[in-house]
Amino acid sequence: MRMAQERVYWEISVLILVLMNMAQKGTSFGVNWGTMATHQLPPEKVVKMLKDNGFNKLKLFEAEEKILAALMGTQIEVMLAVPNVMLQEMSQDPVAAATWVDANVTSYCYNGGVNIKYVAVGNEPFLKTYNGTYLKTTLPALKNIQEALNNAGLGSQVKATVPFNADIYFSPDSDPVPSTGDFRPEIRDSLIEIIQYLHTNDAPFTVNIYPFLSLYGNTYFPFGFAFFDGTSKPIKDGDLLYTNVFDANFDTLVWSLTKAGFPEMKIMVGEVGWPTDGDINANIRNAKRFNQGMIQHSLSGNGTPARKGKIDVYLFSLIDEDAKSIAPGNFERHWGLFEYDGKPKYNLDLTGSLENKGLAAVEDVDYMLKRWCVLDKDAKDLEVLAKSIDFACTLSDCTALGYGCSCNNLSLQGNASYAFNMYYQVNSQKSWTCDFSGLAVVTDENPSVGDCQFPVMISYGGPSVLPSRGLAHMVMKIVGGYLLYLILL
Ligand SMILES: *[C@@H]1O[C@H](CO)[C@@H](O)[C@H](O)[C@H]1NC(C)=O
Ligand SMILES: *[C@@H]1O[C@H](CO)[C@@H](O)[C@H](O)[C@H]1NC(C)=O
Ligand SMILES: *[C@@H]1O[C@H](CO)[C@@H](O)[C@H](O)[C@H]1NC(C)=O
Ligand SMILES: *[C@@H]1O[C@H](CO)[C@@H](O)[C@H](O)[C@H]1NC(C)=O
Repeated sequence: MRMAQERVYWEISVLILVLMNMAQKGTSFGVNWGTMATHQLPPEKVVKMLKDNGFNKLKLFEAEEKILAALMGTQIEVMLAVPNVMLQEMSQDPVAAATWVDANVTSYCYNGGVNIKYVAVGNEPFLKTYNGTYLKTTLPALKNIQEALNNAGLGSQVKATVPFNADIYFSPDSDPVPSTGDFRPEIRDSLIEIIQYLHTNDAPFTVNIYPFLSLYGNTYFPFGFAFFDGTSKPIKDGDLLYTNVFDANFDTLVWSLTKAGFPEMKIMVGEVGWPTDGDINANIRNAKRFNQGMIQHSLSGNGTPARKGKIDVYLFSLIDEDAKSIAPGNFERHWGLFEYDGKPKYNLDLTGSLENKGLAAVEDVDYMLKRWCVLDKDAKDLEVLAKSIDFACTLSDCTALGYGCSCNNLSLQGNASYAFNMYYQVNSQKSWTCDFSGLAVVTDENPSVGDCQFPVMISYGGPSVLPSRGLAHMVMKIVGGYLLYLILL
């Protein structure tokens, strides 16, 4: 009798474990939360939205106190980051690393604190466009941070890693298949030292993969291959068949790691996503198709042709960021699953059950007054118009006006109104920011037309309280030559 009872208990506990596993499987989705926006939603409201939607992993680009405070007491697994600007200091000074870890990690690691799992040391520090700026500092900074974590007794619970851009590896043009892949020769030795260190610490290798950029950079790229339901002709690599560029890219890393002697290295995808505006291929239809496909693929457990199992993914990104540098392209400010005000852009099912469910929005958002700044219909002196549009756009965000974008069909007058309004909203509707030599007027009639939205700003923060760190961060994000933004500031 007793035996039978124990057996029943045992079976029930197995059942519970299986159910828990399924629940976990269904909700284990990660997302990046970047904060380069002129107006930030209150972190508590965003964290509630994360919980409402079942996002259970979060990747940050710094260690912002307000965000960490809002995460206290939640189960959400967090990856914090040491920004690139701090790599030099962290590499030279173990005490600075210890101070950073103490203030930004240890002080949150208690029961009821923040569930910190990873510290990202730098962000894409070996990016080609950085010209090797961080080549020498990344590994020593990684070591100092991990050792500080170890010394704080957190070594087994919090792992330091380095998110790399997928431009650290490549396959030769002569035979562009994953199995010919390897790390770029000029960074290969440095990378292998880092991989060795991560491996010794049982820490994952983190990589950011962007199929959108395959399309953006190459008009001949087979469109369907960018997605997971791709119908284009598969690419053959020995016995392996590739039907999408994500898998091909991921496996190029798997092969590169294998050649370096680490075939089993754990891989996390630190960023992957699709923007919704700012380019002809950046729209809601494509973003939904890609991100839902990514979720299904990741949760399916099928893995890639060269690496079976669930793929660990952080989607990029949570909320649009209107202060990001557009040097890489106008799409940069439109990666969010959510608009600037926390409204979901499209339906996305994070559980993989394909129910076409909507995401929960950020609740109780405060907006500024429903008013817009537009071109005065009676304005006569239109000579300065082009200059005014230029000025307004340079200091705000006109990335929706471009070819194939949501506001591409406006007239010249419409363009002017759009630019004036963006400048006015970004400046928190300050009355003197709606003038433009007398060309502009404030209206309470919504000028939006069709898909072209003229936003009303949320009433939190604003440029006057933009932290100076935001500007420093912007400099680091400029990977082209467009310094105009800063010169004008
Ligand atoms: C905590 O991290 C932030 C980076 O997000 C940094 O600016 C700050 O200096 C860190 N705190 C300490 C005490 O190092
Ligand atoms: C990298 O080098 C190029 C070409 O020399 C230069 O234009 C660019 O400003 C450099 N970028 C950085 C981040 O140093
Ligand atoms: C712009 O107008 C053209 C022609 O009327 C139409 O085909 C296109 O879909 C429109 N684009 C947008 C983004 O509304
Ligand atoms: C509106 O602005 C966009 C982006 O600068 C430009 O491509 C377009 O030609 C402009 N439209 C008119 C009618 O001037």
